[in-house]
Formats: sequence, C-alpha cells, structure tokens
Amino acid sequence: MADPVLVAVAWPYANAPIHVGNLTGAYLPADIFSRYQRLRGRDVLMVSGSDSHGTPITVRADAEGVTPLEIYTRFHNGFIDLFQQVGLHYDNFSSTHTTNHFDVSQKMFLALKETGFLYKEVQPQWYSPAQEKFLPDRYVEGTCYICGYDNARSDQCDKCGSLLEAGKLLDPRSKIDGSTPELKNTEHYYLDLGKIQDKVVSFLETRKHYWRPNVIRQSLGQIQANALHGRPITRDLEWGIPVPDEDAEGKCLYVWFEAVIGYLSSTIEWSKANGQADAWRKWWTNPDARAYYFIGKDNIPFHAIIWPAELLGAKAKFDELMGSANPEHFVLPYDVPANEFMNLEKQKISGSRNWAVYGLDFLTRYDPDPLRYYLTVNMPEAKDTDWDWDEFVARNNNELVATWGNLANRILSFTYKHWEGIVPDPGKLQPMDSELLQTIEEGFHVVGEEIEQVHLRAALGEAMRLATEVNKYLDQTAPWKVIKEDKAEAARIVYTALKAIDSLKIMFSPFLPFTCEKLHTFFGYDEPIFGDQRVDEVSDDLGSRSVLRYDPAKATGKWEPSQLKAGGKLNQPGPLFVKLEPSIAQEERDRLGK
Ligand code: MF3
Ligand code: ZN
Repeated sequence: MADPVLVAVAWPYANAPIHVGNLTGAYLPADIFSRYQRLRGRDVLMVSGSDSHGTPITVRADAEGVTPLEIYTRFHNGFIDLFQQVGLHYDNFSSTHTTNHFDVSQKMFLALKETGFLYKEVQPQWYSPAQEKFLPDRYVEGTCYICGYDNARSDQCDKCGSLLEAGKLLDPRSKIDGSTPELKNTEHYYLDLGKIQDKVVSFLETRKHYWRPNVIRQSLGQIQANALHGRPITRDLEWGIPVPDEDAEGKCLYVWFEAVIGYLSSTIEWSKANGQADAWRKWWTNPDARAYYFIGKDNIPFHAIIWPAELLGAKAKFDELMGSANPEHFVLPYDVPANEFMNLEKQKISGSRNWAVYGLDFLTRYDPDPLRYYLTVNMPEAKDTDWDWDEFVARNNNELVATWGNLANRILSFTYKHWEGIVPDPGKLQPMDSELLQTIEEGFHVVGEEIEQVHLRAALGEAMRLATEVNKYLDQTAPWKVIKEDKAEAARIVYTALKAIDSLKIMFSPFLPFTCEKLHTFFGYDEPIFGDQRVDEVSDDLGSRSVLRYDPAKATGKWEPSQLKAGGKLNQPGPLFVKLEPSIAQEERDRLGK
C-alpha cells in the first residue's frame, strides 16, 4: 500500500472520564479522518494512548488514597470501553506507562543530550514549605507576566496561549492548599529551544500556507514575540519516567516532554506487536509519509513547537540508539488541525462542577452515531461552539431521521416489498436519473477534498445536502405513485435512488460508521466497510494493561461510487435512527451541575 498517513491523536490524561468536548476536540475528528483515509486505500496508522504520568494523576491518587497506577488503569480502561462503543478505530491505543515507552523516551532524551540540545542548570522552582516538596507547574497559579491574566498556570497561560518560563509567574499561589510557594534551587535538564529555534521557524514557515490560521498565528506569533528559551524537561517527581542519568536520582522526565514521544513509541509498539519491528519507519523516517496531529487548541505549542524541536534536535543520533547505522530524517507534522473548544449550554465544560456530558454516560441513553453526527456538525474547527440539547434533538430528528434515515429506509422497504428483495433492472436510464447519479459521483470529490483539508463540518454538510438532492428526486419522480401505472418506470427510479443511497452510505461512513454498516448489510453486502476492534492484554515489567487495536483484515469499503447491480439480493431493511422526544432536552439539562 502506498501513501503512509500517520494519524496522531492527543493522549487523554488518565485522571478523568472523557466528555463530549474532548471527543469533538481531537478523538472523533481523528477517527473520521482516518476512516476516510482507509477508504482511500492509504496506509493509515492511528496511534495514541493514555497520558498516564504527570501531576493530575498523582493529585487524584493522593486525594483518593490509592496509587497512581490504580488511577491510571481505571481511567485507561474506561477510555478503551468508550472508544469501542463510539467506534474510534485506533490501530494502537496504549499508554505512556510501558517499558517500551520508557525506553523510547529515554533514548530520545539521550539523543538530544548527545546532539548538544540539552543543558543542565540550577534554577529556582516553586516549592511548598508546607508540603515539603516541589510543586508541579500546573499546581501553581498566578498572574501571566506577558498578558496579565490572573489565572495562568506557571508553565502556560490559557489566555494568551504562551508557554511561560519557570519561576516568572506573578503572585503565585498553590492550587493544592492556596498557600504561597517559595522559589528553591534545583538542578534540571533543559531543552535548548533557542538553539533549535531557526529550524522550528523554517518548519513552521513551510506549513503556513495551509495550516489553520489560529494554529500558525499562535506558533509563529509566540516565537516572534518572545524568542524561545530553554525549557526544563525534568522534574522532581516520583511517578513518571526516570531520567537516564546517574546524577538525576529521584527526577523524572517532564510529562509533556515524554507524552509527545508517545506518538513514536505507540507506533513502535504496534510494529513489535505485528512482528515487524522496523515497520514504524514507514511513518517516521519515510519522506512520503504525512503525519496529522489531532489536538485541542490548548495543546498547540507542544505539538507545533516542542515536539518538532525534539524531532529536529534528536534526529542525528536517535537512529544510532535505535540500532540502525543510517541516521535518517524524522517525519515532522504535516498538519496540526487543532480544534477550539466546545462549551455546554453556554458554559465552559467543567468536570469539578459536573457541567459535562460524559461519553460513556451519554451512550447509556443514546446511540453513538447521533453523537458523532452532532459533534461533527458542531465541531469547533474555527471557533468555540456550544453543545445545546435542543439542537441535538432537532438535528437528530430533522437531519438524521427525516432527511437521511427515512430516505434510505423508505426506498429499501419499498423495493423489498415490491420486487421481492431484489434490486430491479432499470432498463435505460433517463437524463434526470443520470444527472442525479452524476451529482452524487462528484460528491466523492467534493466531500473527499474537504476531508483531506480536515474541514469535517463542511464535508458532512455536503453529504447531507446530497441526501436532500435524492429526496428531491424522489419527490419529483414519486415511484410510489408511478408503480400503480408502470412498474418498469418505477423500477428505473428505484434503481437510481438505491444506487445514490448506496454511494451516500460510503460518503457518510467515516462520520456514521455504525448505521452505515447496518445499511451496508441491508444492501446485501457480506463483508463490512471497515475492520474490527479488539483489545489485547499486554504485560511487561511495569504491569499489564489493555491495548485497543484495529484489525483491518475484513474491511472492504472503498471511497468510490456504488457498483450496485440489478438482480442483487437485498436484506430485510429497518430504521437506522430513532426519533427523540423534545422533552429529553430539559431532562438532560436538569442533570447538569448536580
Ligand atoms: N494529555 C494532554 C491533554 O489531554 C494531551 C497530551 S498529547 C501528547 O490535554 F501527545 F502530549 F500526549
Ligand atoms: Zn498570558
């Protein structure tokens, strides 16, 4: 297979369940994109895993009086459950708490050290005299010294998006107990971003004509406003990846430094699991590969600056450490289609206030495709959007049920009944039939092009518009009436509509995979559009865990117009979607904030 496409998906922090904002921000768009790329016959690898280190996990563990391992395992298992239920086809969804990831991260660290992009420095770090320990960045809040925002974290300001330098935050306070931290000296390794800055800028310059304006503005803007400085990449922590250096006893790699390396280590893990230890190179050292990073906007600097800097800095030495004598280049991000945020009923989603719609909870009451649909038509691609329960119901009822689901069900049932479940022979198509099929065929280019550019809202909107065209065609041709006078003419119309719907099924399938597979079986196909998911139980010296994996063996779907033939056998059809009562919107709003 040609055209390797790496779909790199943000690693969820394994300290909280996933809500609709997380889904629409990164995980769902990645799945839609990769399903489309698979239909195009591209060699897709979609990787991610649980971001299992870092203080969000240790803080939760302390609060519950359990180990960080327990916390991470609990949420990791929940992610895997959700991703199966909502149909996210990860080739490898693993975790950062594996010996493989430890090894790759330590090698990346050592490569950067050998290439001269790391230096050591003693610096003051926020220290809690009350707790007698150094405070992690995100547990110190205060005023941003760049924009003056008074709720900035000590490493990053959510208002102006800047990465902040250690110890420079104004009016610091500990998020744990509100006390005022002090600065205390500690020695750490620093990534010498100043030294890599030129390379990062040239990398960004080559992307600026096609990246989302917000992503490029934030990244280049940040470098232009403030030249890059060294960033500490080690921390005084116990839970994490030990720094591979005798002098760094008790220190771990900074969670952001190692989590981004997960894209590479998860690919390597997948390669080993498939018995082809070197297969990862197809996506990482191959000039033909394209890598797409699906993330939320708060992750932009780490993916557009830090991660490219790590790759650019390490490349001359990394291969040597990986046991290859040929230093090759690393595949840098081709696109970083970061999304903005989704709010909920006009307020910011917040786990602590229970102002959230959690994926697993939602799926106890509703089906996955309506969720995927609503999250896509409302995806925050260019600006923040809002989850509105009334709109969810309306979109489900007016678009999924009325425009698309009824169209498919109505024509399939009609054919099933009047032609004994066999696709009828159309005879010679009339111009209006060919025109409809032509319009649908062009849709494969239009919708496909939108998806290539990660304009998923526009792509889905176009597919739904085409469904409206088929409805118009049926209103004009009225086969339900025609059949009473002329069955042959009705056969021609029904055949045309079936063929259009069979094509639309493929166009909708990256977005609505569950109902499209169902529709696919109504059309009589024996093999599914997409492959299967399975959960492998894997263990190593760090413990055992579930890894979610995609198995493409049975997939037969292709991004191309229907080849439906007269005489084909259909299966008994049924409805694809259910109509929702408008009253559920209020019921759902009543659950929020409790
Ligand atoms: N855990 C981070 C978040 O949920 C994302 C990390 S992406 C990674 O915001 F690549 F760094 F892992
Ligand atoms: Zn700021």
